[in-house]
Amino acid sequence: MKVALTGASGFMGPALVQGLLEAGHQVHILVRNLEQSLAKLPAGVTGAPFRAGEPLGPEALAGAQAVIHLAGEPVNQRWTREAKHRIRESRVLGTRALVEAMRAAGTVQRFVSASAVGYYGGEHGAEVLTEASAPGKDFLAGVSLSWEAEAASAHEVGIRTTVARMGVVLHPEGGALHTMLPPFRMGAGGRVGSGKQYVSWIHRADMVGAMLFLLERPQLEGPVNVTAPEPVTNADFAHALGTALGRPSVMHVPGFVLKATLGEMAMVALEGQRVLPKRLTEAGFTFRFPRLEEALKDLLAT
Ligand SMILES: NC(=O)c1ccc[n+]([C@@H]2O[C@H](COP(=O)([O-])OP(=O)(O)OC[C@H]3O[C@@H](n4cnc5c(N)ncnc54)[C@H](OP(=O)(O)O)[C@@H]3O)[C@@H](O)[C@H]2O)c1
Repeated sequence: MKVALTGASGFMGPALVQGLLEAGHQVHILVRNLEQSLAKLPAGVTGAPFRAGEPLGPEALAGAQAVIHLAGEPVNQRWTREAKHRIRESRVLGTRALVEAMRAAGTVQRFVSASAVGYYGGEHGAEVLTEASAPGKDFLAGVSLSWEAEAASAHEVGIRTTVARMGVVLHPEGGALHTMLPPFRMGAGGRVGSGKQYVSWIHRADMVGAMLFLLERPQLEGPVNVTAPEPVTNADFAHALGTALGRPSVMHVPGFVLKATLGEMAMVALEGQRVLPKRLTEAGFTFRFPRLEEALKDLLAT
């Protein structure tokens, strides 16, 4: 089928483009810088410009039957007032414009919109969370809640809609692992804060597999956690990463140091969620990398 994809030039986007093409789909990207983005993607990918906050004509979807929505201002930056505004508005207004274009186009039957496990907030400690768990109360939970509400309006116009609550997507090319690798490679890695906070992670290949799985199963509507079945504590994550690299990982970054360096954004590392992929598992999705040790071994093999 023809799949329109936003966020194609980001960290997850190019891997998803590759996965979609390998599965036999046509890919049409919706990006801010079309020429630059197309130049980095395989031949045959088409596209149209898309900028959050600006209306998107229905013709921009080029007759797509499905839409996958990833675009949003990066969360990994100091949360000034302006940055918080961009993080929220890029998702809310971008999703709104996309849903309006889908409604007007009339060709789209399937919509998979990214969300994040941040939906559950940082206040649950070691409590096991599934799709049925309540949303949190912090900034990221509020952003995810508003983002999901905008995506759900596609359901109201008859489009089968899923919000994929992503865990920490692991690949050395980007995201959290890319940031963690330099200190861990120097033997200066370790737990942050108490180390008891949970990390709900997923290998990037399984994220791609799960998104394709969702695309092909329109009956899986509503929220779906896209995380590996074995979340680990931050201390266990640090230990596993050190072991995979053959480096010590006994350093410790106290919470107050991280807060002083990163401000409020430090909560992303200091608070976590213990999320299970209940709906994916029940629907029969098979993880290639269900355990962190095997995922890291694969990701760090060169
Ligand atoms: N990576 C993770 O571990 C993770 C975990 C949970 C949830 N997520 C969510 O999943 C989505 C994709 O993640 P990612 O890591 O691939 O993200 P990313 O690399 O930070 O960027 C994704 C795309 O967002 C677009 N973008 C950036 N700033 C924007 C702005 N101000 N307005 C509109 N669009 C903007 C860019 O699209 P253009 O191509 O148009 O430039 C970029 O390619 C994000 O929404 C992210 O919050 C990611």
